[in-house]
Amino acid sequence: MNNLINTFQNVFNCTEEPRTFFAPGRINLIGEHTDYNGGHVFPTSISFGTYALGKRRTDTRFRFYSMNFPETGVVECDLSDLRFNDTHDWANYPKGMIHHLIKAGYSLKHGADILYYGDIPNGAGLSSSASIEMATGVLLEYLFELNIDRIEMIKLGQKVENDYIGVNSGIMDQFAIGMGKRNHAILLNCQTLDYNYAPIELQDHAIMIINTNKQRTLAGSQYNERRQQCEEALTDLKSELSINSLGDLTTEQFEQYKHLIQNDINRKRAKHAVAENSRTLEALNKLQNGDLEGFGQLINASHQSLRHDYEVTGAELDTVVEAAWKQEGVIGARMTGAGFGGCAIAIVPKSKIDDFKDNVGQIYQHQFGYSATFYTATLGDGAKEITEGAL
Ligand code: GLA
Repeated sequence: MNNLINTFQNVFNCTEEPRTFFAPGRINLIGEHTDYNGGHVFPTSISFGTYALGKRRTDTRFRFYSMNFPETGVVECDLSDLRFNDTHDWANYPKGMIHHLIKAGYSLKHGADILYYGDIPNGAGLSSSASIEMATGVLLEYLFELNIDRIEMIKLGQKVENDYIGVNSGIMDQFAIGMGKRNHAILLNCQTLDYNYAPIELQDHAIMIINTNKQRTLAGSQYNERRQQCEEALTDLKSELSINSLGDLTTEQFEQYKHLIQNDINRKRAKHAVAENSRTLEALNKLQNGDLEGFGQLINASHQSLRHDYEVTGAELDTVVEAAWKQEGVIGARMTGAGFGGCAIAIVPKSKIDDFKDNVGQIYQHQFGYSATFYTATLGDGAKEITEGAL
């Protein structure tokens, strides 16, 4: 923390202590590609995240610096011009957040100096971008005493992705990051935004995060295309059914009406969305009944469906997940997040973590010629101020 404060003072040439904020990253236990289909998700916030240190200015300038992208240097802009700018690179995320806060009616009269440091691996699908958005949101809320309703802040974060960056993502990432609770996952109904916290007690098991180190950005992926395919499927279903989203259908109803979907590929996409939604609800049930094995089987089924019906896994994720399934005592494993690369999760006996890393690591290295990275997930709190002495 001292290092961050020193860097802040050096970069912005000041002696005052900034205030410090933190927003986590997230993993999703199950419920993938269901959020924008009006279904349920079951994510948790993790202890990796984004630190944002900030100080108000007396003029209308904003200065942003990221310790993760020192080569970009300090990015500057004025309150009067918060338009997306390619050359501002990563700083478009905080700029987008400020832009949308103002658009939503929050009054910002002054700028700020803000330093970011993130320990979420980039492009790993652990929501580093939503983490920057939410870190910026809480920082602005506290620095400028804005009193922003948390759910509204979450929705604004999603708007940044949708309208400012151009990724049609759902609400899951910002929600998990904004509302996260230590050692809990959140069952969220993405249509109504009703949610419940569920304690994650995995007995003698830990959640491992396996980063394939195959980077991807959502803007460059087929994410928007998948969303479009689901929307087309929904339009076809609506010709006879009165539903708002794929999340309204049970798997039985889907079987009964799937012939309405004209295009074979769209039918597969919708099949995943409907089945994954029901798996997610079932998964919470299993967990609450202490049925870890049953929970694991649903996690495995989720991966199969994302692989064969939604087609967002790819060779790297399939390899780590298949390797994970074969390891002794593993309860379940699947890709997490959008897919196309990024991370998988596995529920591994604590006593077998080292063997797990060695074995899965070797298989991966052998197949792709570079290594995967392993982390034991710690489930932390949602976005908040962490300034020492201010808590
Ligand atoms: C990304 C998006 C989320 C969600 C997941 C897939 O993380 O940002 O909204 O759609 O992919 O479940």
